[in-house]
Amino acid sequence: MESVMDVELRAITKANWRQCINLKPAEAQADFVAPNLFSIAQSKVEPYLLPLAIYHDAEMVGFIMYGRDPDDECYCVARLMIDEHQQARGYGWAAMIQAIKRMKAEPDCREIALSIEPQNTAAQKLYESLGFRKTGEVVEGEVVMRLRW
Ligand SMILES: CC(C)(COP(=O)(O)OP(=O)(O)OC[C@H]1O[C@@H](n2cnc3c(N)ncnc32)[C@H](O)[C@@H]1OP(=O)(O)O)[C@@H](O)C(=O)NCCC(=O)NCCS
Repeated sequence: MESVMDVELRAITKANWRQCINLKPAEAQADFVAPNLFSIAQSKVEPYLLPLAIYHDAEMVGFIMYGRDPDDECYCVARLMIDEHQQARGYGWAAMIQAIKRMKAEPDCREIALSIEPQNTAAQKLYESLGFRKTGEVVEGEVVMRLRW
C-alpha cells in the first residue's frame, strides 16, 4: 500500500450535504455505523461534534465526525465511514491520520477514544494499525479503543 493517500477533510455545507447523506457502507456493514444523515443531525444538537466529508481528488469518498466530549473531556472519533465503492484504497486510514493530527494539535488533547461493534474486524484492524488499543471497556455493546501517546 502506497504511503498516506491524499485525502482532504471538508466541512458539510449547503452544497455537499445531500451527496454526503447518500454515501453508504456495504450492506453487511450497515450495523457498524449510523447513517450520515443521523450523524449530521446529531452534530446539530451536540455541537462539540465536527462532521466532515472526506475527499480524494475532489471526489467525496466518505465521512468522519470527531470532537471533545464535554461530559468526559475526552477527544473521540464518533463516526468514520468510506462509501462501499471506495473502500480498501487507504482513504479511511488517511482520514484518520488527519483527524488524529488535528486533535493532537489541541493543547488539552491527551488521548483519543472510539468504539466499535465487536464483529467489526476491518475497523479494529485499521484502528490498531494507527495505534489504538482495546481497553476492556464496553459502552452500549461497543468495544472501546484508545490511542495514547
Ligand atoms: C472501516 C472502514 C472505514 C475502513 O476504511 P477503508 O478506506 O476501507 O480502509 P483503508 O483502505 O484505509 O484501510 C484498510 C487497510 O489498510 C491499513 N492501511 C491503510 N493505509 C495504510 C498505510 N498507508 N500504512 C499502513 N496501513 C495502512 C489498514 O489497517 C487496513 O489494512 P488491510 O489493507 O491490510 O486490510 C470502511 O471499511 C467502512 O466504512 N466500513 C463501514 C463503516 C464502519 O465500519 N465504520 C467504522 C465504524 S467504528
